[in-house]
Amino acid sequence: MTAFAYRGGWLAADDLDLRTIAAEVGTPFYCYSATAIEHAYRDFVTALKDCDPKVFYSLKANSNQAVIATLAKIGAGADVVSQGEMRRALAVGIPPEKIVFAGVGKSSSELSAALEAGILQFNVESLSELSRLNDLALACGRRAPVALRINPDVDPLTHKGISTGLADNKFGIDVEQALEMAGNIANFPGIELVGIAVHIGSLLTDMRPCLDAFKRTVEVYRSIQELGIPLKRLDLGGGLGIAYRNETVPSLEDYASVVREATAGLEAELAFEPGRRIVGQAGVLVTRVEYVKQGRDRQFLILDAAMNDLIRPMLYEAWHEIVPLREPNPDEELVAVDVVGPVCESTDTFARERRMPPLKEGDLIAICSAGAYGAVMSSTYNSRLLAPEVLVRGGEYAVVRPRSSYEALIAQDRLPTWI
Ligand code: LLP
Repeated sequence: MTAFAYRGGWLAADDLDLRTIAAEVGTPFYCYSATAIEHAYRDFVTALKDCDPKVFYSLKANSNQAVIATLAKIGAGADVVSQGEMRRALAVGIPPEKIVFAGVGKSSSELSAALEAGILQFNVESLSELSRLNDLALACGRRAPVALRINPDVDPLTHKGISTGLADNKFGIDVEQALEMAGNIANFPGIELVGIAVHIGSLLTDMRPCLDAFKRTVEVYRSIQELGIPLKRLDLGGGLGIAYRNETVPSLEDYASVVREATAGLEAELAFEPGRRIVGQAGVLVTRVEYVKQGRDRQFLILDAAMNDLIRPMLYEAWHEIVPLREPNPDEELVAVDVVGPVCESTDTFARERRMPPLKEGDLIAICSAGAYGAVMSSTYNSRLLAPEVLVRGGEYAVVRPRSSYEALIAQDRLPTWI
């Protein structure tokens, strides 16, 4: 479903003209469609329904509490990677039994807080972590439910910065080592081994590596069961890609058939941790053209949004579609422009030589597919304020994170007494 479409000549989110929101909230701002988020979640669950999936929305993609609450209301659990994310999930009423805690470097205080909360599962990534969790669990008189996250050493064929499934990546436990840890699990009385987890990377657009990784993980699962350990859950992670640029990406049915093929005949509850696929297409970053600058050889569109608001193009050379809020006329001649932000470094470039309809100062544009890894990766670099976030449902909208203020920004620092 497309939440963002031109209506009456202007880009709308659901039934709302984005110009109206821009006039009231100011630019730049993130706008999400609750309807699109719900659709994406329901489509994901429906595609996998014959394996009765347990879906833990990966908060790292977009952890605005209004977004989490939208998903929680329709049944989603949460995949968290920090105490902050866990607290956000709990704050909107996701019960601890629907929270899994992943991540390669959970601190003792994070592990303790999650034990205290009584979460469903810790995805453990090393022997050291297992041992530390065991001690912490024994100290508070609990047993920690653990899934060992394996590293299947499979190339996910994605950008190197978001690959996690290769032996060279810091993630997961080597298969041999995981089998050994499972064999010695009796030495960890504070641990209940409940499952095996895998996640080979994000923005996966080729299902072959996924199939290989899932098959390897199922082999490990079976081998551990053969040791007489009664596992119950196979956590297949997240990672399914979306189309940023009209490219073909695997359908949910393609993904489901890979899952079915790899897990055929396996007695296990299947868990998933999708992030991008649920929220990626449900958000845009609305920004204004501050200046049109004619350089010697190229034209620059200088926006009021910058790399501190959306860093994906700079960090991963990611392509995001950029469209004017005013519907382009098909006869308009396109001009090649560099779309840049005001931050003081050349990295602050959203697109180079992008062919766009002619735009002038003050025009509004939308950077598309920005619902995932947009606002969550933003910063106040150059002492810029964090952009507000708006959630639309049908003809209504709510500001779900107001724009911060300069007063609050400045008040964060403290001067030492000796100055
Ligand atoms: N589970 C684990 C263990 C993960 O590490 C991740 C993402 C997910 C689930 C969710 O993956 P998704 O379904 O969203 O692909 N900032 C990058 C993406 C980083 C992904 C990190 N891990 C980007 O903007 O492309």
